[in-house]
Amino acid sequence: MPVVNSILVVGTQFGDEGKGKVIDLLSERSDIVARFQGGNNAGHTLVVKGKKTILHHIPSGILHKGTMCMMGNGVVIDPVVFFKEIDTLTQSGVEVSPKNLMVSENCHVILPYHIALDKARERGAGKIGTTCRGIGPVYEDKIARRGIRVQEFVDKARFAKRLDETLPEKNKTLTVIYGEKPILKEDFFAHYAQLAERMQPFVGNVSLYLDSHKDKRILFEGAQATMLDIDHGTYPFVTSSNASAGGVCTGLGVSPFFLNKVVGLVKAYQTRVGGGPFPTEMDEQMGEKVRQKGGEFGATTGRPRRCGWIDIVMLKHAKRINGLTHIALSKLDVLDELDEIKICTAYTFHGKRIAEFTSDLQVLEHCTPVYETMPGWKRDISGARTFSDLPKQAQAYVKHIETLIGVPIAIIGVGPDREQTIVTEEL
Ligand code: GDP
Ligand code: IMO
Ligand code: MG
Repeated sequence: MPVVNSILVVGTQFGDEGKGKVIDLLSERSDIVARFQGGNNAGHTLVVKGKKTILHHIPSGILHKGTMCMMGNGVVIDPVVFFKEIDTLTQSGVEVSPKNLMVSENCHVILPYHIALDKARERGAGKIGTTCRGIGPVYEDKIARRGIRVQEFVDKARFAKRLDETLPEKNKTLTVIYGEKPILKEDFFAHYAQLAERMQPFVGNVSLYLDSHKDKRILFEGAQATMLDIDHGTYPFVTSSNASAGGVCTGLGVSPFFLNKVVGLVKAYQTRVGGGPFPTEMDEQMGEKVRQKGGEFGATTGRPRRCGWIDIVMLKHAKRINGLTHIALSKLDVLDELDEIKICTAYTFHGKRIAEFTSDLQVLEHCTPVYETMPGWKRDISGARTFSDLPKQAQAYVKHIETLIGVPIAIIGVGPDREQTIVTEEL
């Protein structure tokens, strides 16, 4: 079985590590960029010569002419957001057409009742701080075998029939359990049927396309991250898809032999949006300092991100789950002004040292992090373009992280722009 020339870019923490920037950078030497899971809960930021683009649905390779972008069957798609994004890109001069974007016929479609249910549940006691984009409810439908896929969506008669089968139960839940208004078919059907017609030319067999292009350079774009993975993250404070490497095969219909290099995106510190355990969360003052310097506000919801110190226990878990071959370390410049930088190497819980990640919420919520402290460099590093341009304290921090995780760091981010990058190993 030939090994495919592919790179997977995957989040290793709680998302927003800077995947969009690195995928955009690596797209230059890729023929295909394929997303395999998640939906418009993702917010991937690309900055090229000062111009910012935030993508929620469309893969981050779209800015490169000649790159084919794909959304695999594991992706969930909101047709309204999808076309809004295409229109915004088109207006700014980026071509988006079936020539450079394919949507799998098996993607599940996010419909108004998914969003209504997500919002209704987030008003209740079981709130987990979702993006309220309908992600949980649409994946629930998929697993429960009652979802509506793109292939049905683009066929008006089938779409209408499937809605008739689905809506009564949804509306009973919305009205009786949550006391919300029902979602009426006549209020959205005509608009969605129009969007479906517009989507038709983009629809294809992604698995077949990838199989017949396995001689090409393929980039797999992860959304969310390992700690938000439905199986391997901090359940139930996770998203509803497999955001780690395993999701590539099931979410695109490719064999495990398609996976070659696996690049884990690691932020030089850590952030989390929404609820859930965060052992290394900083105190309010330090958190605010990092939040301001790092611009840590959600690219999707605008919510302030919680900030914390880098957590090696979680990163070793991410290394194992994903089989990381390389690391891209982002946002090193955000630490420029700090006197000291902390690195969490283990936790203690009831007097016991814990060095391996556990998904046990009791431990994650009540453990105490064990920190090592390193001196800061107190210098602006945003202009550094080679490793040797970095102050020796910054070099030491990078090298120590590399040693602690045991994976080579190939890329270092020193600013949001595509150019503000140090490449220590060509991928
Ligand atoms: P993603 O979801 O993993 O693609 O990350 P987001 O785009 O949600 O959040 C990352 C934020 O950090 C964005 O605002 C990026 O422009 C920015 N960013 C990415 N890499 C760097 C970096 O190396 N330094 C700085 N200062 N900002 C960065
Ligand atoms: P990118 O791809 C950060 C978080 C939400 C919430 C939990 C569940 O930009 O890294 P959901 O709407 O998915 O049901 O919410 O997951 N979350 C993210 N956090 N980055 C993301 O994506 C996220 N996508 C979902 O904040 O805690
Ligand atoms: Mg993001």
